[in-house]
Amino acid sequence: MLKQLTLFDNPVEGSPDLKLSRSGTFVDNMSLPIHRWFRYSAGFAASWVEEVLLEWRIQPGQFVLDPFAGSGTVPVVCDSIGINSIGVEAHPLVARICKAKLLWECDPIQVRSFAAEVLKYAQDQKPNVSSYPQLIQRSFDTEALATLDSLKSAWSSLQDSSPESELVWLALTSILRPTSRAGTAQWQYILPNRTKKNVIHPLLAFQQQVETIKSDIRCMQARAKRSRAEIIAGDARAFASSMPQKVDAVITSPPYANNYDYADALRFEMTFWGDVTGWGDIHETVRKYLIVSSSQHSSRERLKASDLLGSDAVEPIRNELAVVMDQLAKVREAHGGKKPYHTMIGAYCRDISLVLRQLRIACKPESRMCWVIGDSAPYGVYCPIEKWIGELAMAAGFKQYHFDKLRDRNIKWKNRKHRVPLKEGLLWIEG
Ligand SMILES: C[S@@+](CC[C@H](N)C(=O)[O-])C[C@H]1O[C@@H](n2cnc3c(N)ncnc32)[C@H](O)[C@@H]1O
Repeated sequence: MLKQLTLFDNPVEGSPDLKLSRSGTFVDNMSLPIHRWFRYSAGFAASWVEEVLLEWRIQPGQFVLDPFAGSGTVPVVCDSIGINSIGVEAHPLVARICKAKLLWECDPIQVRSFAAEVLKYAQDQKPNVSSYPQLIQRSFDTEALATLDSLKSAWSSLQDSSPESELVWLALTSILRPTSRAGTAQWQYILPNRTKKNVIHPLLAFQQQVETIKSDIRCMQARAKRSRAEIIAGDARAFASSMPQKVDAVITSPPYANNYDYADALRFEMTFWGDVTGWGDIHETVRKYLIVSSSQHSSRERLKASDLLGSDAVEPIRNELAVVMDQLAKVREAHGGKKPYHTMIGAYCRDISLVLRQLRIACKPESRMCWVIGDSAPYGVYCPIEKWIGELAMAAGFKQYHFDKLRDRNIKWKNRKHRVPLKEGLLWIEG
C-alpha cells in the first residue's frame, strides 16, 4: 500500500496502484505551496510524481532527473521530500521560472522588503503604455497596464542577482494573466479578442502573490533544509556532458507530437518583458531550441523528409516511420493548409531518439524511467508514438519497456473530423 507523504496536504484519490493512478494535470498543483507560483498548463500533478518516487523507494542520496522539467514539478517535489534532482529545460522563460521556484531557501522577509521597495519606487515612475506591442496594449485596461509598467520599471531599476529580486520578478510575471482582461485558451495561448470578467487589480494581485510566496517559503523551510535541485537551462538533446552526476531515476513528460507550440505558450509574458516583440521573434528566441513537435517548427526549419529518414537516430523505426511519413505527405496535398506533419513526425522521432541517447549516458545502469506520453494522429494518420519511443529506448541501450494506458483522448484533432482513437499513458523504461 502506498503512503502519501504529508508535506503537501493533497490526498491522492483512488487506487494506489501506479498502473491505474493518474498523472493528473497542473491544475491539481494550484493549491500546493511553491508549485502554485506559476500556472503552467503543460505540467503534471505533483502528488502523482511523489507517488511514483515512493513506489520506486527513491532514497535521500539518490538522484532523480527530468529532462523536460518545465515549471519544475519534479525538482520541487524532490526538494520537498529531501531527494536530489536535476532538471533540464530549453525554453528560456520556463527555465527561469523553474529556477526561481527553487529559490525557496531564501529569507521570506527579504522577499517582502524587496517587493515593498519595488512598490515604493513604482510610485515615482512615469508609465509608458504606448511603447508596448499591440498584443499587450489590447490585453489590458490602460490603467492596469500603466501600473504594471511602473512595477516593471521599478523592478528593472532595483534588480540585482539576489534570490529576492528573482522571486519578485516571478511574482510580477505570474500576475500578468490574472490582471489582464484577455482570455487564455486551454493550452495557455493568449486570446486578446476574448475578454474575461474576473480581472484583479495589479497592485492587489502583486501584494497577494508576494504574500503567497512568503508563506510558501516558510512552509517549505519548515520541512526541508536546503534545495537539492540543479536546473540546466539547456537542450535535452545535448545535456549529458553538463550533468554533475549520474542519476537513478527519470520522471518526465516530453512535448507530444500533437502540434502544440510550446514556444508560443508564454509569448504574452515574454512580450511584456520585452524578450520578444511579436510572434515572428518566437522561433529564433525559443522554438529553435525545443524538440520539434509542431508543424510551425518543421516548416520554419524547412526540414526535408529524406534527411530525417536518413538520420541514424531513427534507424530502429525507420521502415514504419517511412510509411507513416509517406502517408502524411500524400494526405497533406488534399488539405488547404498543407501542414508539414510528415516532417514534424520525422523530426519528433529523431529528437526523442537523441534525448534517449543522452539519457542512456546520464542514467546509472539498472535505472528506471517513467514517461507520461500520448500518441497522435495528424490529418487522421495514426502515429504509434509510445511504441516508437519504447523501441528507440531499447536501441539507445535500455533493457525493457512497457506501456500502461491511463485514458483515451482525441482532443486536439477532433475538429478535423477524424475518428482515430488516441490514448495517453505511462511508458515505463528500465535498465
Ligand atoms: C510537457 S512539458 C513538461 C512540464 C513539466 N512536467 C511540468 O510539470 O511543468 C514539456 C517541456 O519540455 C520543454 N522542452 C521542449 N523541448 C526541449 C528540449 N529540447 N530540451 C529541454 N526541454 C524541452 C518544453 O519547453 C516544456 O516545458
